[in-house]
Amino acid sequence: MSPIAKIIRQARAIPVIVIDAIEDALPLAQALRTGGLSSMEITLRTAAGLEAIKRLRGAVDGLSVGVGTVLSADDLKRAHAAGADFAVSPGFSEDLVKLALDLGLPYLPGAATPGEVMRGRALGLDAFKFFPAATLGGPATLKAWGDVFPDNHFCPTGGVSPDNARDYLALAHVAAVGSSMPAPRKMVQEKKWEEIKALSHQFVASTQA
Ligand code: 3PG
Repeated sequence: MSPIAKIIRQARAIPVIVIDAIEDALPLAQALRTGGLSSMEITLRTAAGLEAIKRLRGAVDGLSVGVGTVLSADDLKRAHAAGADFAVSPGFSEDLVKLALDLGLPYLPGAATPGEVMRGRALGLDAFKFFPAATLGGPATLKAWGDVFPDNHFCPTGGVSPDNARDYLALAHVAAVGSSMPAPRKMVQEKKWEEIKALSHQFVASTQA
């Protein structure tokens, strides 16, 4: 199993974060960790994302900090330099897969079709983000993928909630689920750390058998 497959299998529940204010990084990370989460994916959708990753490097015990919404080689290089533990993209790019391998950065590209999974496998990958999961047919699509890619590891994201997380995780090849549900952007902006802690608990509970 590759390092990224191990990371997502261990995490099981991955919160997808959009952060606007750098001073929110630490209290947010602490709320997620106290709520039982062991990883977070900080997206590069805001200017604060990269700086948040830098600040959180080794800051919260037991919390691995990844970078999300990686769209370019520059994104990947900067996130690696900032100390990201892993990287996630919404889609598939051979160039980014090769760069991540060169950098030695555990990398989870998006796959929306079996063809993309096959291209990833040809480069030695065994793990993929399935995005946007709900729109692509949800657990039914992943069940069919499991018949042909039983040795791969998937992280469905997009429309995942405590109501359907178990439907995905019941499939052996689903290693983890990702969701913005534990820390919605507005709640982070309003610094509602107690609410985020409670939602994190709820997200974690929904991924347990
Ligand atoms: C992602 O970046 O993976 C998605 O935006 C998260 O989707 P969600 O908001 O439906 O959880």
